[in-house]
Amino acid sequence: MEKTRVANITSDLIDAVHEICIKHAVTHSEYRAAINFISHAIDSGERSLLFDAFLEANVVASDPTKISGTTSQVLGPFYLPDMPFIKDGVLARKNEPGERLRVFGKVLNTKSEPIGGVELDFWQADAQGRYSHFDGGATPEENLRGKVESNGTGDFFLETVKPAQYTIPDSGPTGLLLKEMGRHPWRPAHLHVIARHPDYSTLTTQIYFEGDEYLESDAVRAASTDLAFPLTYEGEQASVSFNLVLQACR
Ligand SMILES: [Fe+2]
Repeated sequence: MEKTRVANITSDLIDAVHEICIKHAVTHSEYRAAINFISHAIDSGERSLLFDAFLEANVVASDPTKISGTTSQVLGPFYLPDMPFIKDGVLARKNEPGERLRVFGKVLNTKSEPIGGVELDFWQADAQGRYSHFDGGATPEENLRGKVESNGTGDFFLETVKPAQYTIPDSGPTGLLLKEMGRHPWRPAHLHVIARHPDYSTLTTQIYFEGDEYLESDAVRAASTDLAFPLTYEGEQASVSFNLVLQACR
């Protein structure tokens, strides 16, 4: 009987662990310590953080269903579903602290034709690197989260503030492991977006800014330079422009 996909992947995973154990002469007490570490991280509420920080980017990169269009990125742990559509692209409150940022985007297919009616579900950190709902109630639940739709020429617009670079939570087990590995906990500044349209594969990605010092050493190893766009200035008004390219459903 042919093995199931789960069985095949699990067998390869066990073989890979076997090779690593031999290579590093892993002891039984180290094995127990590793199991205890993972259990402790999960008990500390870091299940998503631990696996997303170290493994999610690998799976995003290996997914064979994504063969063209804008590079996919990790969803990460700070997404909240069911956020409302925002009016006139105003994502940031008038009194939201930070540098105002205008976002000009266009949604295209792989033939460079515009796509209208695409739902663009945005979320981002604030100017202090905090996400609403995960900031202990410091900001309203829907702060810097919301949806817009591309128009007939594929264009969309957002009025927001520039998100800050931030550290992934680094005071618990995941942060300790990062430190042990000699890695810092910083992520480059970014906007998250999910693009949805019934005729196209859903795209989950992030938009970065050219020149960010953490682009090459992102703590979760997600950032991709092809998703880094220049900030341009008209007087003191900052803007960023980019295209999102969607892959048609197969
Ligand atoms: Fe993020």
